Amino acid sequence: MIRTRAGLVSALALAAALGVSACSTTRGSDMPPLPASADAPVDYARDIHSYARPEIARVRHVALDLQADFSAKTLSGTAALDIQGVAGANEIILDVRDMDIRSVSDASGRPLQFETGASDPILGQPLTIRFPALSAGETRRIVIDYSTRPNAAALQWLSPQQTAGGQKPYLFSQGQAILTRTWVPTQDSPGIRQTYDARITAPADLTVVMSAEMLTKGGEAAADGRKAWRFRMTNPIPPYLIALGIGDLAFAPLDERTGVWTEPGRLPASAHELEPTAAMVDAAEKLYGPYRWGRYDLLVLPPSFPFGGMENPRLTFATPTIIAGDRSLVSLVAHELAHSWSGNLVTNATWSDFWLNEGFTVYFENRIMEAVYGRDRAMQEQVLGYDSLQETLATLPAADTRLKIELQGRDPDDGLTDVAYEKGALFLRTIERVVGRERFDAWLTGYFDRNAFRPMTTEQFLADIREHLTRNDPVLEQQLQMNAWIYQPGLPSNAVAPTSPAFAPVDAAAVAFFRDKGPASAIPWSGWNTQQRQRFLGWRPEGLRANADWLTAAQLADLQSTLNLTNEGNAELTFAWLQIAMAHRYQPAVPTVERFLTEQGRRKFVLPLFTTLWGEGDWGRTLARRIYAQARPLYHPVTTGSVDQLVGRS
Ligand code: BES
Ligand code: ZN
Repeated sequence: MIRTRAGLVSALALAAALGVSACSTTRGSDMPPLPASADAPVDYARDIHSYARPEIARVRHVALDLQADFSAKTLSGTAALDIQGVAGANEIILDVRDMDIRSVSDASGRPLQFETGASDPILGQPLTIRFPALSAGETRRIVIDYSTRPNAAALQWLSPQQTAGGQKPYLFSQGQAILTRTWVPTQDSPGIRQTYDARITAPADLTVVMSAEMLTKGGEAAADGRKAWRFRMTNPIPPYLIALGIGDLAFAPLDERTGVWTEPGRLPASAHELEPTAAMVDAAEKLYGPYRWGRYDLLVLPPSFPFGGMENPRLTFATPTIIAGDRSLVSLVAHELAHSWSGNLVTNATWSDFWLNEGFTVYFENRIMEAVYGRDRAMQEQVLGYDSLQETLATLPAADTRLKIELQGRDPDDGLTDVAYEKGALFLRTIERVVGRERFDAWLTGYFDRNAFRPMTTEQFLADIREHLTRNDPVLEQQLQMNAWIYQPGLPSNAVAPTSPAFAPVDAAAVAFFRDKGPASAIPWSGWNTQQRQRFLGWRPEGLRANADWLTAAQLADLQSTLNLTNEGNAELTFAWLQIAMAHRYQPAVPTVERFLTEQGRRKFVLPLFTTLWGEGDWGRTLARRIYAQARPLYHPVTTGSVDQLVGRS
């Protein structure tokens, strides 16, 4: 939405044509001179995590032609960028980090001048490319010849030993939040949407997949006995969604438009686990309008994948730790699928608006779960999310418990907390409760539709909901407290905690065992689902002091053997048990924690466990150091980056 101001019409029209959204900023004194027609304060949502100046020149399309070299651990080749700008623009600024640029040329191969600026540890470097002035409406192609470095933070190069099959190497990328700049030289800002195509060559025994339509099923013959794979993404997407996976991959369809990719040995279990995906896509479309991306497939990654899931368009990336055998953790699929609307269609304009991606997605995820599994299950998951939010609110600095958070000088990862996810979702549930589900759903469908393929700021969200839902009704405005939800810390007075009757017997059993020291045999564990078991293992005494023991060794032994926790196959439950056991320095669980931390590298499990160990004195630190030395080579840079900070490595 462009706010027009007298005298700025032409520049604003250009900004609109460039697809740049509006907010208020003015040109700084360090900015190069602009052509007269654009020499006016063009406003756009300034992204402090990008060097790009999209109001002058911006990337429209990225065409990658890259060779994957597994021995050098590099992607090497060219990125051809189609760019547009205001009339007279003669440079473009891209984002790069830890990347080697060999040359830059125009479409006919004539060299162009380029220069990289000072490197910031979080942001990387600006790459400025100069060219003869653009004319109005012109699209110009520039070609960057480059190579990634083995330490590119978006890329994890796995040795065969780090895969399930153990025979072939593997590569995957993780772009969010600002890591795409370590493998694609482009304007790496979520407000600068780009289409892309790619040609990737790899050893002939590997399969290449991307967050795009695959144009070459099975690949095609390329030089040196390799294979080339071609892709295209025709919807403009934020660059953090450009994604690549290469490995020994096999595919199983779920229905006509959904399917699962993974290593051949994992395929049967993965396809069985993820079978509900097809029904989820149907349910999502019934809720909030058509799925606009064609296919919806999942890639189940090797165990070092640092996140639970990543909503790469057409191809969600997922941790293998959701393959529990009983489909109990499929809400992760509902979550990543929901991002096909909240995030991939309507995208946070900056990382301070991250809650617009994640809060909306957790809300939508739970609606999908309700549609497919019923209200009961959905409420159980809401309660687990709310409990986790309470813990987060108690530990974060107040300023970081605002939905719109201040990230100046910080890594956008600092905003990756339950506040964006669970406070965001609770806010939307509050609105739903006040206006009624019917009106809320109608608004949300319209919101996705009106703003499809656009960046969204928190302020634009507020303007949209005031225009289309509350219609500036002062009574509603008071009841909703929207400004408080967004700009104040903690939870406003109209927040309502979710409840689930299914948790009443669980809480009773928890009190009987944990507090009243009854026998573990009295816990009706086998009659509970995974969410009830999570609730049980998440129980803590009121006002528990940090590092205080609250169970006896006998209770821990009873729990471990009666619930058979040493052989628990569900990663969420293993994690929850180990958090208890390690907080008590419970030696018999050490082999389990050692195995768990060396067989998967999901940061959500790894970091809290190391944090718990780190808080347990010499015993914990010695153990943590020993396990980390063994596990670190398995982990992704995202995970090691966090654990290194904890254990004081650089
Ligand atoms: N988009 C996120 C993952 C992400 C966020 C990666 C920010 C990098 C920076 C993804 O949709 C997500 O939220 N994943 C969760 C699982 C989900 C079920 C809550 C995760 O990975 O734990
Ligand atoms: Zn998410």
